[in-house]
Amino acid sequence: MMKVVLVGNGAREHAVAAELAKDAELYAIMSKKNPAIAHLSKEYWICNIENPDAVAAVLKGKQFDLGFASPDATLAAGISDVLEAHGMNVASPSKAASRIEWDKSFLRNLAEKYHIAGAPIHKVTGDPDEAASYITDLGEVAVKPLGLTGGKGVKVSGDHFASPEQAVEYAKSLIKKDGSVLIEEKLIGEEFTLQAFCDGSNIALMPPVQDHKRAYPDDKGPNTGGMGSYSTGILLPFLKDSDIEQANKIIRDTAHAVKKEGSLFRGILYGQFIVTKKGIKLIEFNARFGDPEAMNVMSLLEDSLSNIFISMADGRLKKAKFSDDTTVVKYLVPEGYPENPQKDKPVNIDNAALEKTGAKVYYAAVYETGNRIYTTSSRSFGMAGRARTLEEAEQIAEKACSCITGPLWHRSDIGTRKLIQSKIERMKSIRD
Ligand code: AMP
Ligand code: GLY
Repeated sequence: MMKVVLVGNGAREHAVAAELAKDAELYAIMSKKNPAIAHLSKEYWICNIENPDAVAAVLKGKQFDLGFASPDATLAAGISDVLEAHGMNVASPSKAASRIEWDKSFLRNLAEKYHIAGAPIHKVTGDPDEAASYITDLGEVAVKPLGLTGGKGVKVSGDHFASPEQAVEYAKSLIKKDGSVLIEEKLIGEEFTLQAFCDGSNIALMPPVQDHKRAYPDDKGPNTGGMGSYSTGILLPFLKDSDIEQANKIIRDTAHAVKKEGSLFRGILYGQFIVTKKGIKLIEFNARFGDPEAMNVMSLLEDSLSNIFISMADGRLKKAKFSDDTTVVKYLVPEGYPENPQKDKPVNIDNAALEKTGAKVYYAAVYETGNRIYTTSSRSFGMAGRARTLEEAEQIAEKACSCITGPLWHRSDIGTRKLIQSKIERMKSIRD
C-alpha cells in the first residue's frame, strides 16, 4: 500500500485525509492533534508545521511514497520543498510556486506580463500620496495587504469604509506597516470558487462552489474564514457555461505563466472569481484547497485522490471524475464566533443520530481531552450533506448540525432555496 504523509490539521485536511485513507496508508503531521485525522492515520506527529526544520526532524529516518502539505502558511514556509528534499513524490506546491497566494503583487504582475484576463484595475504602491490620489480617482476600492492574512486583511468600500478618506487611512497604515499596499477597483457581483488539480502543465477542474464568508444570515456581518458552502454539479445556479469557460482559461493561463517564470505549479489551484457586469474577474488565487470548499468537492470525488496526487507529482495528470450531486456544508462554530467565541467548552456528539442523517462530519479546530471534544476560538465542525437535490442536501446538513450540541451555532440559511434564489436574482440584475 502507498504510504502518504499529509501536513495539516483542519476540517479541510480531514476531508483530504478521508479520501487518501480509502486506498493508501495515511500518516499525518499536525500542529495540533485533530482527533479525526489521528483516527484515520497509521501514525501521526505533532510539531510546528510552519517550521521547515521541525518538519524535517519529524521526517528523519522515515520513508513515504507521497506527500501533501495543505495550509497556506505551511506552503509559504516551504514545507512542500522539505517533503521533496526528503525524497518522496509531492503533490503540493513549492514555496516559489505558492507565491501566487502569499504575494498578491506577484499574481497581479504575472497576469499583466502574460496578458491573463480577469484582473481588476489595480495599483501596488509604497507612496502614501500616490495611494491617496489613486483611491480618490477610483472612488470605490478594495485595499489589501500583499501577504497572507487569513482572509481578514482585505477591506472594501461600503463594507468596511464609509468614505474614501477611511480607505486612504487604511492604505497609509498598510504602507507604514508593510512598505506597500495593493489597491483595486471595487468589483460588484456574485463570487464563486473554482478549484483545479494541477501538475504544472495540465489541469483537471473540480465542481464550482460558493462559500459564504459573512458571519450572519443573509450574508451580513463581519468576514470569517467561511461559514458554509454549496455546490450543484457542473454549474452553480447563477452561473453560465461561459463563466466557467472564462474562469477555466484564467486558471490554465496562470499555471502556464508560473511555468514560464521557471517554477512548476503542482498542487491545487484555487481561483476566487466574481461574476460582474463586465464578465469574470479574478479576486485572488490560492495555492491550496478552500476551507470549506474542500469538503464539498472531496465528498463528490469518484477517482482515487492518492492516484490523482501521484499523477500530479509525475506531471501526467488527466481528468478527475466527480459526481454531479449537490452538496451543502454548514460550519458549526462556537457561540460568539467570530468576535467573542466561547472556547474550551465541551460538546456532545450523537454519533448514532449522525449516522442516520447520512451526513459527513469534518473535525475543524476542536481538541480532545479525556474522551470529550472541546471548542477553540475557531470553527468547530464542517457538516456536509450530499444528495441529488439542493433541498435534500441542505436538510441532511441541517439535521446533522442538530446532532452536535453545546455552545455552538451555524448559519441555517446556507444552501436554502431562499438564499440561493436571492443570488440568482441579484446576478440577473447585475448582468442586465
Ligand atoms: P481576498 O482575501 O483577496 O480573497 O479577499 C477577501 C474578500 O474581500 C473577497 O472574498 C471579496 O469578498 C472581497 N474582495 C477582495 N477583492 C475585492 C475587490 N476588488 N472588489 C470587491 N470585493 C473584493
Ligand atoms: N473559503 C475561503 C478560503 O479557503 O480561502
